[in-house]
Amino acid sequence: MKKSHVIEWDTKDFQQKVMDWYGKNARDLPWRMPRETKKAVKPNPYHVWLSEIMLQQTTVLAVKSYFEKFTHLWPTLADLAHADEDAVMREWAGLGYYARARNLIKCAREVFNHYDGAFPRTEKELLKLPGIGRYTAAAILSIAFHQESVVVDGNIERITSRLFMIGEPLPQSKKTIYQQASIIYDGIGCSASDMPQALMDIGATICTPKSPKCSLCPVCSYCQAFHFSEPEKYPHKASKLKKPSRVGEVYWIETENQQIVVEKRGGNRMLGNMAGLPGTNWDGYGQEKIPDLDWQRAGEITHVFTHFSLKLTIMKGKIRSSMLILNKNQYLVDINNLGDVGFPSLFRKVIHFVSTLKEVE
Ligand code: ADE
Repeated sequence: MKKSHVIEWDTKDFQQKVMDWYGKNARDLPWRMPRETKKAVKPNPYHVWLSEIMLQQTTVLAVKSYFEKFTHLWPTLADLAHADEDAVMREWAGLGYYARARNLIKCAREVFNHYDGAFPRTEKELLKLPGIGRYTAAAILSIAFHQESVVVDGNIERITSRLFMIGEPLPQSKKTIYQQASIIYDGIGCSASDMPQALMDIGATICTPKSPKCSLCPVCSYCQAFHFSEPEKYPHKASKLKKPSRVGEVYWIETENQQIVVEKRGGNRMLGNMAGLPGTNWDGYGQEKIPDLDWQRAGEITHVFTHFSLKLTIMKGKIRSSMLILNKNQYLVDINNLGDVGFPSLFRKVIHFVSTLKEVE
């Protein structure tokens, strides 16, 4: 039953309710310490930083296995600082937003070289490191170093918008959300590490974008949207413009030995320095098809990036190895080993498309 009363805000009580809930319901995530050791062991700043970089623009579900793989391959910041850059890019393949991986290596090297391998503990210094913005700096300071910081990710943005029924749409409302969120963290003290993680867990499991489970929420008594409106309507969002679309061709060049031409993409292109298949630029121009091959149009795939959607036409051509001239960035890979190359998702989609054709051929 919704009541029309004024909600009295009590920060201490709010924080206590969130912490009690977290004590019973925290998700076990690989970058968190197991609950029973929590009090005795300090968080590992390398793990906190690595997970936060991976979690930028990517879901917890997708990140888990990558985090485990990275900490297995490079158990310490020093290991990552000395890692081969191509190996890191290959292992990152599939997580997307590859600038994050390039900055990850740069950041590890900078922390190793300029801070003796220990992350700095001030916002000012953290913000100077590659790949660390306001959110990540706040997350590291609070989660790794127990410093009170205003941590606002997408989940906390949503929770804050609902708690305080912020009517202004995103992204204009970011400043207001941040101001209101600072009330939530005020004087958090020794729970500085847990508070943002607890809110993230509430956001991920209860205060979800659609059909929030308000009856399970430990702080619904404080939620203005719950009392006076429909929580699902918050945060308001400015209407999105349709993404521009781009087109191009991708070349599946196969030899008689069932080898495929693969290339390392130029550093200045999108998905720079990653493995790819040859093709035009994504305006339809650039790199032409090898002439005089019997090219077949195999089909199309569409891939949506943050700022545009891309439709690639897949052109298949067979060539005898003796006729093939590879440029310096290109090499041949056995068709059965394409899975080991470390392609970004766009090219995995192309390979998957062609492999489904092969099954019916
Ligand atoms: N999303 C971003 N950082 C997170 C964390 N530490 N725990 C859960 N979800 C997150």
